[in-house]
Amino acid sequence: MAKIYTGENIKEGIRILADFMKEAKYTVVLTGAGMDTESNIPDFRSQDGLWRKMDPRLVASIDTFEENYSLFRDFYSERIKRLKDVKPHEGHYVLADFEKRGIIKCIATQNVSDLHRMAGNDKVYELHGNIRKIRCNYCNHKAELEDFLNREKCANCGRDALRPEVVLFGEALPMDEWLWAEEDIRKSDLIIVIGTSLEVAPVNQLPMLTRGKRVLINMEDVDIYYDFDLKLMGKAGEILRELREVYDSL
Ligand code: APR
Repeated sequence: MAKIYTGENIKEGIRILADFMKEAKYTVVLTGAGMDTESNIPDFRSQDGLWRKMDPRLVASIDTFEENYSLFRDFYSERIKRLKDVKPHEGHYVLADFEKRGIIKCIATQNVSDLHRMAGNDKVYELHGNIRKIRCNYCNHKAELEDFLNREKCANCGRDALRPEVVLFGEALPMDEWLWAEEDIRKSDLIIVIGTSLEVAPVNQLPMLTRGKRVLINMEDVDIYYDFDLKLMGKAGEILRELREVYDSL
């Protein structure tokens, strides 16, 4: 049963995680929308999350794309416009620093914001795609973000079918990203899961695959059938900042 640290005893929990990281030979990270909320991108299932205001199947599914393209395009145009001035926060930069120093091997993320790469991470597996990349749904022609925002048709096949390269409800995940993430997590002896409710399959199965310890950093506890060795309840940015300080002091 995981030991849960929060509030006044969070520092004790952070010290335990830092010790795990010092011992580990192959540490990997899995992130979700809670990694981006401190960069002012709403998550999905917190009390003010996106899916509290609308049903994802009505706006973010392949059925909506096919049956109500203008609603689909309005929803994603809005999400893309809101990303315009968004920047990585300190927690993203800590993870980039950890990769540069060889402390973590990769990040598998459910986030489509591209903030991990913007912060400097290189090995990032985008399991749910990238909202800043645009293609034609039918002929796969690559288009610019502006083409989608300007409601252009596909320049190659002429269809009204431009869309962000994100995984919609009802679609399969990108196979290569999935296989790379799965391979790295199977090799890992420590997985740090940050800012996700673990409600969405198949990504919520990935933490099961580690050979070693599982640690959760999240604002709230999660309801998943497997256990964690350690749970740190709090803000990702704050915990990661403190984690690097403690790690460097060891
Ligand atoms: N620090 C730590 N945890 C946070 C923070 C924060 N600053 N902000 C929010 N959280 C936590 C929330 O408490 C919640 O448990 O992050 C979690 C986010 O969960 P979701 O909103 O369900 O997001 P996620 O798990 O990434 O959703 C998975 O669902 O709709 C699909 O494709 C979408 O990739 C997304 C997938």
